[in-house]
Amino acid sequence: MSRNIVVVGSLNADFVINLDRFPAPGETIAGTSFETFPGGKGGNQAYAAAQLGGEVLMLGQIGGDAQGIWLRNNLATAGVDVSHLLEDREVTSGVAFISIDHRGQNQIIIVPGANGTFSVAKLKQHQSVIERAQIVLLQLEIPLATVIEAARIAKQSGAVVMLDPAPAEKPLPDELLALVDYLTPNESELATLTDVGLSEAIDLREIGARARELIARGAAKVIVKLGGAGALFVSAESQHFWPSISVPIVDTTAAGDAFNAGFAIALAEGMSEEDAGRLATAAAACSVMRPGAQPSMPTRGEVDQLLKQHPPQ
Ligand code: RIB
Repeated sequence: MSRNIVVVGSLNADFVINLDRFPAPGETIAGTSFETFPGGKGGNQAYAAAQLGGEVLMLGQIGGDAQGIWLRNNLATAGVDVSHLLEDREVTSGVAFISIDHRGQNQIIIVPGANGTFSVAKLKQHQSVIERAQIVLLQLEIPLATVIEAARIAKQSGAVVMLDPAPAEKPLPDELLALVDYLTPNESELATLTDVGLSEAIDLREIGARARELIARGAAKVIVKLGGAGALFVSAESQHFWPSISVPIVDTTAAGDAFNAGFAIALAEGMSEEDAGRLATAAAACSVMRPGAQPSMPTRGEVDQLLKQHPPQ
């Protein structure tokens, strides 16, 4: 079993509407179905890492409502250690409103709730769990100051820091990039972080050049998640592309979270970065075949089976 992954991040109740197409501004359309799933980028990565066989602890905050209890219990059923999950009774738990069209593509609006009041002071009260971590997974759905502090504590105690810069609204401070071992934007987040739009068609040379800008600003390595195309690994010395595994798509929500969890588990088990990327790609592929965020996260057996069916070319 891989050991000691700590996720510092968000938990959301996902309210999901399926529809044929997204509405235009000012337009009202009928959806085809509605469901509620446990989600949040932090919770999803914790749940996925536990499903893949990791020893995982989640550090985050729920609100004083039934949804918070539901989110905590769901993580616990996957074996995530929730003993350091905080509660802010003054606010609601985080929520996400997600629309999914007939191609499985999504649009997401989040309301942070308790994720937004997870302060640096509260984090510091639980500093010791980060100090004991082997790998720390971060995202951007809690206050940026809290993310920076978590990265600083993790780095000082020698943990590997993996930051999923999602949602990305503006370039990140260099102070944070310098603390990150693996930065994992998708294509649009890469454009936001480098403040330059990207061509519509995927151009690996252009994406590699943008990733190297982030390396020049401090990030050690960048992995750009390119959805159905695959993922591009970029370091100062090298570049490597993992093609995606083609599967029937039901819902792409949280595929990026499955990727990060898969990469972290593989590193924790001592795999090479190249093999870690393959496992991460397979975890993401498995996750798009089922609806929902946490319910779509695959077991290790499912991922290993998919990898066996798709050996490296
Ligand atoms: O990455 C997917 C997640 O983004 C969803 O579960 C939703 O909660 C939003 O945070």
